[in-house]
Amino acid sequence: MDALNLCRFTDVDSTALAELSKSVGWTTTIETWRDLLRLGNGAVYGYRCRTGEIVASATILRYGSALASLGMVITKPSYQRRGLAKNLVSHVAHSSNGGTIALIATKEGLPLYSKIGFKVTGGVTRLAADSFSMKTSALTTRYKVEPFNKSDLEVVHALDSMTMGGARRDVLDLCLKRASRCCTLTEDKKIVGFGLVKHGLKTSQIGPIVAATADGAALLVKHLAANNNRRMVVDVPSARTKLLRTLISCGFTRESEASLMSLNPENLPGRREQLFAIASRVYL
Ligand SMILES: CC(C)(COP(=O)(O)OP(=O)(O)OC[C@H]1O[C@@H](n2cnc3c(N)ncnc32)[C@H](O)[C@@H]1OP(=O)(O)O)[C@@H](O)C(=O)NCCC(=O)NCCS
Repeated sequence: MDALNLCRFTDVDSTALAELSKSVGWTTTIETWRDLLRLGNGAVYGYRCRTGEIVASATILRYGSALASLGMVITKPSYQRRGLAKNLVSHVAHSSNGGTIALIATKEGLPLYSKIGFKVTGGVTRLAADSFSMKTSALTTRYKVEPFNKSDLEVVHALDSMTMGGARRDVLDLCLKRASRCCTLTEDKKIVGFGLVKHGLKTSQIGPIVAATADGAALLVKHLAANNNRRMVVDVPSARTKLLRTLISCGFTRESEASLMSLNPENLPGRREQLFAIASRVYL
């Protein structure tokens, strides 16, 4: 095998990283890689061969001392089954500053993470819909959905940190910057949740959604999806069964399942019962 160097990547590597993700059939754009490379609390590592080509990657985002999120674990097909991902994930896990390391695993990635010691602690269900119809008249008396206002920022950050059990300021600011629409959920004029949607060319991804209850989360989905004729996807933690039932009853269908895995300790911090949709499978 070529001599390979373990490196930390920078902005100039975003195009080569997009080529790497394309080699395994992922559609991760140069812009998404650039965002990951620029996040102040994160790092992108991987292997580069002598010609300069990038043949493996893994990202780590640190949310304070209690939690870190691992993602974008990819090995170029012609370099697979040589231990690259295993070495890389072990390296990245050791470079994290303690606390739980969590990730969303594909079917392909699951045996690799199990071998390193990660345990399955839950699941994420991807729901999709071209259109749906939700009756929420009974809910609207309790909650109100309002457009996000800049003055809501600190409350939204506080809600997010409390829910996730870690300081995700950089990631949430990025989600807000890339969002096409963001809403808050209020009860008696107090913000008790928020949600956002990002429009792609053909698909809109709804998430993250933080809410006090499943009814509140459903109301946020309804408002975020309004006046949008793209296909909608939402990644719901599988334990949020009431929201899953509500969305399926109004036209969403199950598209795929992924595993939530974590390492040392396996218990995720925060008030996870308030997390009704994750931002993306790229990071938690
Ligand atoms: C998953 C992936 C990153 C593994 O990369 P890799 O460099 O080939 O993995 P390694 O060689 O380090 O494998 C380490 C161990 O993981 C397990 N493993 C890796 N790939 C596996 C596969 N396709 N099927 C079963 N076990 C696998 C094996 O136990 C392997 O040890 P072994 O070869 O001694 O049996 C690679 O297949 C890939 O890029 N897949 C597409 C993208 C993806 O799904 N990434 C995971 C995101 S969660």
